[in-house]
Amino acid sequence: MRLIIKDDYDGMSKWAAEYIIDKITKFNPTAQHPFVLGLATGSTPVGMYAELVKAYKAGRISFKHVITFNMDEYVGIPENHPQSYHYFMHDNLFDHVDCPAENIHILNGNAADLAEECDEYERKIVECGGIDLFIGGMGPDGHIAFNEPGSSFSSRTRVMNLTKDTLIANSRFFDNDVNKVPHQALSVGVGTVMGADEVLILANGHNKARALQHAVEGSISSMWTITCLQYHRNAIIVCSDDATDELKVGTYRYYKEIEK
Ligand code: GLP
Repeated sequence: MRLIIKDDYDGMSKWAAEYIIDKITKFNPTAQHPFVLGLATGSTPVGMYAELVKAYKAGRISFKHVITFNMDEYVGIPENHPQSYHYFMHDNLFDHVDCPAENIHILNGNAADLAEECDEYERKIVECGGIDLFIGGMGPDGHIAFNEPGSSFSSRTRVMNLTKDTLIANSRFFDNDVNKVPHQALSVGVGTVMGADEVLILANGHNKARALQHAVEGSISSMWTITCLQYHRNAIIVCSDDATDELKVGTYRYYKEIEK
C-alpha cells in the first residue's frame, strides 16, 4: 500500500484529482472500452471533484467514456434531498462534466426491493467488466463506504444499519440532529471495493488520525474495515499531514522518504 502525505487538504485534493486524470488519460477510454470509476461522497472528496471539474473545463479530461459506480446512498430520503448522495454527485461533479447520464450508477435508496437493488448493482459492475479505480474516503470509525465495524471482508452490496458513531458524525449534514440522519444506507461491500483493480482512499484532518493509524499500522480487522486495504494489491491512501497525527514517527518518515 502506498501512503501519500500532502501538506494540507488542498494538496491532497489536487494529488487525487491528478491521479485520476492521469489514469483515465493513459487508459484512453472509448465507447467499446470505457474506464470504470468508483466514486465516493462526504466532505473529503469535495475539493478533488472541484479540481476534476476545473480540469474538464480546461479541456484536460473528458468523462464521455467513463462509467461510474458510487459507493453508497442513504435509505429513504428523496434523490433531490440536498443530503442525498444523488444530489451531492450531481452538484459536485456530474452537472459540470460530460459524463453521459446512462453511464452514471448510484444506488437507489428508495427501491421497492432494496436487496434486489443491491444484487442488481453487483451484476451491473460485473457486466461493465469490474471497477478500474475505486475512490473512497474513511469514516472516523475506520469504515469504508458504509461498511461499519464488523462488516465481513467478503461482503457485497447490501443494506447497512448505521452505527451510532456514524449517525453522530453525519449529523453535521442534518442540522446537527442525529434523529434526522437516515439510520440505514445501501453500500457496496468490502469485497466489492477489494474487487477493484485499484483503490484510492482520501483522508483529511485530525479527526481521521485514529482511522488512518489503524489503516496503516493496525492489524487487519473487520472492526476497522479500512484495514482491508492492507490486503489489496494496488491500494493508495492520500492524506493531509494532520491526518497522520497518530502514526509513529518512523512510519511517517518512511512514507515521506519513499514517496519523495
Ligand atoms: C460517510 C460515507 C463514506 C465517507 C465518510 C467520511 O459515512 N458513507 O463513504 O467516507 O462519510 O465522510 P467525510 O469525508 O465527510 O469525513
